[in-house]
Amino acid sequence: MEGLPASTFAGRRAATLAVLGSGVMVLPAAPVRMRSRDTEHNYRPDSELFYLTGATEPGTVAVLMGGSEPRFVLFVHERDPDAELWTGRRLGPEESTVRFGADEAYPLSELESRLPTLLGEGDRVHFRLGRKDEVEDMVLAALARARARGGRRGTGPRALVDPGEILDDMRLRKDDAEVERLRRAAAVTVAGHEEGLRAVRPGAGEWAVQAAIEAAFLQNGATGPGYGTIVGSGPNACVLHYVDNRRMIEEGDLVLIDAGAEVALYNGDITRTLPASGRFDDAQRSVYDVVERARAAAMAAVRPGATIGAVHDSAVAVLVEGLVALGVLEGDVGDLVASEAYKPYYPHQTSHWLGLDVHDPADYAWGGASRMLEAGMVFTIEPGLYFRPGIGGRAERLEGIGVRVEDDVLVTASGCESLTAAFPTAIDEIEALVGGRG
Ligand code: GLY
Ligand code: MN
Ligand code: MN
Repeated sequence: MEGLPASTFAGRRAATLAVLGSGVMVLPAAPVRMRSRDTEHNYRPDSELFYLTGATEPGTVAVLMGGSEPRFVLFVHERDPDAELWTGRRLGPEESTVRFGADEAYPLSELESRLPTLLGEGDRVHFRLGRKDEVEDMVLAALARARARGGRRGTGPRALVDPGEILDDMRLRKDDAEVERLRRAAAVTVAGHEEGLRAVRPGAGEWAVQAAIEAAFLQNGATGPGYGTIVGSGPNACVLHYVDNRRMIEEGDLVLIDAGAEVALYNGDITRTLPASGRFDDAQRSVYDVVERARAAAMAAVRPGATIGAVHDSAVAVLVEGLVALGVLEGDVGDLVASEAYKPYYPHQTSHWLGLDVHDPADYAWGGASRMLEAGMVFTIEPGLYFRPGIGGRAERLEGIGVRVEDDVLVTASGCESLTAAFPTAIDEIEALVGGRG
């Protein structure tokens, strides 16, 4: 349960039940994915299942029953010495009941036979479609059966709803234990970037920088990177999710490093763009300066009551002014913002929620109204400018330059706290760090 007390998960389940009404929520574990033939990807537990139960074992299915007699039912793999020889200790139903505070726990093999009765008791089933696996087949079959028979105690289920309808907003507002984990993830991510910086130099492989970062992540208590580490040198900095990391860094390159540690299932997410030779050239400096000012402007817009859209707009205003000053765009800044003329150079959003998932769920806007920020929300601020080779037009002289700067911020009662400020972003500090690396 990643060091969290059972009461934390019980509290989250109680909050869920308070809005679940007579619904039933079914949360399966993440599937085990094959990497190649019979070799598995490293297992990553499902964020929603963990958030409500603390369970991390593959094969687990949690069923949360609303109604007048709320119940928390677990299905887990049975103990199996042969399987445990290969993949390690399983808890089994009895131990799971105690560990996770379940009202009942059954072997996974009983899921199919028990689901129709469990789902038949609710009026709505909260389950995410799209898994296209056995659990989804069982839920849909159980739902069809419960509908066909009609409800014996009420109406029976009539609606299938995404669990995110309830859980996304709960997860958006981080509790103290989550903030503490996000602080740790941010600190370990900074430690990784510090080691990465030491490995950046002309003649080093992008892979060597990746290796230095990920070694530091592991040495500082992370389970590993939360997403594929990006080390994009030269023109690779313009590929937003470049993860090949197979190019040799050259003299005069910028190196865009986007890497984040996963600590106790929570994520850090930092990007820094470093001059390989220790100094930005004039063109690189002019682009970096715009992006860094956009980052500062976006951060200054963060406070309770502001919107996530206003954070993005603050960054875009600085980026567009900068694109005009760089001679890439021409015209009135307001018009250029409205027409999204900046999109070829800034194609992504400025922020995403951060938590158990690197891109945590929760809506950013409804019907054109942007989400209002509240203390306890955590998200990234990551403006960038990318002039990919061949983009042409008025950006020709900047082709091959890609810059992104990304920090993780916590909304506080009075404003904003950067969780990742320990790794500087200012040009002179970046140059001093790269120039002074050992
Ligand atoms: N590394 C993915 C992101 O920054 O969103
Ligand atoms: Mn990010
Ligand atoms: Mn990132």
